[in-house]
Amino acid sequence: MIHTSLPARVNIVDVGPRDGFQTEQAFIPTELKIRVIDAISETGVPKIEATSFVHPKAVPQMADAREVLRAIRRAPGVAYTVLVPNTKGAELAVEESIDAIRLVVCASETFNQRNVRMSVEESVRDCEEIVKIASRRDVPVEVAIGVSFGCPFEGPTPEKRVAELARTFAGMGIREISIADTVGMANPTQVTRLMTRLRADLDGAKLSLHIHNTRGLGFANALAGLQAGIDTYDASIGGLGGCPVTPAATGNLPTEDLVNMCEEMGIETGIDIDKVMEASRLMEEFLGRRLPSHVLLAGTNQQAVARHQA
Ligand code: COA
Ligand code: ZN
Repeated sequence: MIHTSLPARVNIVDVGPRDGFQTEQAFIPTELKIRVIDAISETGVPKIEATSFVHPKAVPQMADAREVLRAIRRAPGVAYTVLVPNTKGAELAVEESIDAIRLVVCASETFNQRNVRMSVEESVRDCEEIVKIASRRDVPVEVAIGVSFGCPFEGPTPEKRVAELARTFAGMGIREISIADTVGMANPTQVTRLMTRLRADLDGAKLSLHIHNTRGLGFANALAGLQAGIDTYDASIGGLGGCPVTPAATGNLPTEDLVNMCEEMGIETGIDIDKVMEASRLMEEFLGRRLPSHVLLAGTNQQAVARHQA
């Protein structure tokens, strides 16, 4: 059943410095990564996925994870998290000052193999190990269940599969479970059904949504999530984002577009949209191309009105 009341406030997590940076071909200089993360820290977002501890051959862009984490300015009230693919990544991550580790486990065998060269079962075992590694340092662990709606290799993801994985992770005491549409194959009907089921199933475990706008359904899917009572969403400055496994998969929901949608709907985000756009422009300048955010191009409603009154 669809919830009739939308959340009064949503948490928007900027994953641009990880999901967005990781697929850029040109190496983003470490100083620029730091500058952009510092700029995002000033926007009011509660959490930033700052980097990932992955093999530099698999994702060369993330080779400076440690340097980035050691140089960024820690803004009060902002949590800095990192993505890891396995226990080795977690061991490296807990050596740094971080507020949470996020492990990615994909719901399809083929995708998980291609992403982290392990079976889903092996990744689940790694998760148990990572909980131990992280608890020794008091670092909370989150899990992203990748390709939760559809996989380019295996087709639609059975709901039952995601529900079982989510229950397994909740049973390990995982703090937050992110349901990820890694390559943008979800539709709103599916989002409503799966998120409603998971909310009922998991009874209290924190759920969030990671949406890609690959096929233009991103905001319809976010609305479906809001209607199902989900109050935490990943997004990325300017709509940067992609996936190293399937290069045709494009960006996350642009942070400024999601902030705009929520604020226009009367849902509080606590985020200064102008500051988000400033951070996006730093990346546009470096990349030499426009990013897919609509608001970045058109401005907000308020800015449009001000322009026409001037
Ligand atoms: N970070 C850095 N090095 C790592 C590592 C990590 N997270 N995991 C393993 N390694 C190192 C091992 O220490 C080993 O080093 P050695 O040869 O010096 O002994 C080497 O890599 C091989 O280890 P193995 O466990 O066999 O890894 P692999 O070659 O099967 O690669 C991954 C697996 C997961 C490390 C690699 O595929 C990866 O980094 N994938 C990330 C994918 C990603 O980021 N996707 C986007 C997010 S959804
Ligand atoms: Zn993603």
